[in-house]
Amino acid sequence: MCGIIGYIGQKKATPILIQGLRHLEYRGYDSAGLAVREDGKIKCVKEVGRIDNLANKLKQSDLEGTIGIAHTRWATHGGVTQKNTHPHFSCDKKIHLVHNGIIENYKEIKNSLPGHKFVSETDSEVLAHLIEKEYKNNGNLRIAVEKALSQVRGTYGIAVIAEDEPQKIITARLGSPIVIGIGENEYFIASDTTPILPYTKKIVFLDDGEIAEITKDNIQIFNIKDEEIKKPIEKIQWDNKSTGKQGFAHYMLKEIYDQPSVFEDAIRGRIKLEEGTAILGGINMDNYQMRHIDRVIFIACGTAFHAGLVGKYIFEKLVNIPTEANIASEYRYSNPTIGENTLVFAVSQSGETIDTLAAIREAKQKGAFVRGIINVVGSTIARETDGGTYIHAGPELAVASTKAYTNMIAVMILYALQFGRLRKLTVIQGQEIIKALQNIPAQMETILKQSDKIKNISEKYKNFKNFFFLGRGLNYPVALEGSLKLKEITYIHSEAYPGGEMKHGPISLISENFPIISPITKNDLYEKMKSNLEEAKARKSPILAIATEADESIKDLADDIIYVPQTLNILEPLLNTIPLQLFAYHMAVTLGRDVDKPRNLAKSVTVE
Ligand code: F6R
Repeated sequence: MCGIIGYIGQKKATPILIQGLRHLEYRGYDSAGLAVREDGKIKCVKEVGRIDNLANKLKQSDLEGTIGIAHTRWATHGGVTQKNTHPHFSCDKKIHLVHNGIIENYKEIKNSLPGHKFVSETDSEVLAHLIEKEYKNNGNLRIAVEKALSQVRGTYGIAVIAEDEPQKIITARLGSPIVIGIGENEYFIASDTTPILPYTKKIVFLDDGEIAEITKDNIQIFNIKDEEIKKPIEKIQWDNKSTGKQGFAHYMLKEIYDQPSVFEDAIRGRIKLEEGTAILGGINMDNYQMRHIDRVIFIACGTAFHAGLVGKYIFEKLVNIPTEANIASEYRYSNPTIGENTLVFAVSQSGETIDTLAAIREAKQKGAFVRGIINVVGSTIARETDGGTYIHAGPELAVASTKAYTNMIAVMILYALQFGRLRKLTVIQGQEIIKALQNIPAQMETILKQSDKIKNISEKYKNFKNFFFLGRGLNYPVALEGSLKLKEITYIHSEAYPGGEMKHGPISLISENFPIISPITKNDLYEKMKSNLEEAKARKSPILAIATEADESIKDLADDIIYVPQTLNILEPLLNTIPLQLFAYHMAVTLGRDVDKPRNLAKSVTVE
């Protein structure tokens, strides 16, 4: 969702801010703007639409200043207009701010500021006016920001500059991330590390309630009680290379192709072939505690939830513990029952999804062990869980999640091995799984080689308006994920069902205009799934099957087939999902969609 980048130092701020905004594009946005201090005044430029529109507008006003703040806005309060675009400013235009999050009591605040002139429909603008009022009272920008924030209900990550305190940026967070990059006589402020990493790997993460006062040579951080505190400087490992497109037409395609190598990163150093197990030290539990876990719950949203569903099947098979996967936005309000031996895994690529965060806070409050399966290092969920594992997928910049999904499953399998070996899983079974895991990257490569073939198939299907994705067992979450990928980037209607559920209603929709896409690989449920497809075939539905290599009999049933290599049943989602990612990708390209930034979607969903 919205993104923030700020700069204070000796270089020209504008190119850094524009570059930073481009790095934030992946989060989703519909307008962008910046404010730079120039010749004693703050100059503000905004534009709706792409960053390029803003960059073009800036060509007419060559801003030389070395301090500035910028923002990509994803509309919540008020339409996509220039006036609603950040930065917002006070009546006298001396204070400018950018804000992520939601000010829930903005109407009350607005009413408490008679005489102030509001120009936008946003909740964020009231903050600029509230700070203006407080600044007039005490003449200290940081104190004014603190006083203003103490009157706010809601969430915020903000960066503020003021004409009367020229060499300074004030930044603060509550429920919406702020990270500070430390360079040589320069600082970067942002809503995540992505726009900062090209300049520095040294990062300070603000925690909720903290506020920082930053000049070009110094940073002071204060806690909620206004006490100055020292925060650790963390070193982020991601290299700049992994944030580029590397010659691919889109980030999504690059990230699909990243899967074999990042999968290796996820399992590297974490498996013990001899003992048939995995060691994930981040679990922060001893063997006794692990043996006594009697319930596991994966909590997540969207694609991460689909990975959680795969985790449920795997845990029940290998560990024999009752396991659930829950959608975070439902779980948080469900008044869940949690026992003292319940283990909750928060699964999230961004580590910032507000529903997942709220759900784990609820689980923690009720006494669960809460651990993370997270991609973004230092993210809020990673910091709020009491341990867990990074999935090492590297930056995922396309809005549609691909490589994070496979790596989430990789880590779930490793956890299942670790827990399983403390229970009933034998060393031989563990070794068999590890050997199959080690084959996965090469098997993924063989699927990626079929990209052109999948492109041709997508040409054939591009004019259909509706799709069903059907799968059984572990292929059901695969079907869900394939369907989500297709709808989010092509805008074509699609639904996913367990194959056996079709007869209970959805089959009435089936016709020659309603194709079925089905992962139907050679596992225990193969024959059952085949019968379900027969029912669809009898009603003339075109069928695209994801089948196991050398499966000849599927040819009698399917109009089109994408073959995947054989692996153990529990590992099938790692392979079977990839053709569906490629299918969605090629369909979206064929239909001329904005693949990396589909309409209405944001990469990191930080509002409820
Ligand atoms: C789909 C997609 C979303 C996310 C969901 C959770 O391609 O990207 O469904 O999976 O918003 O996001 P994270 O994993 O960041 O918590």
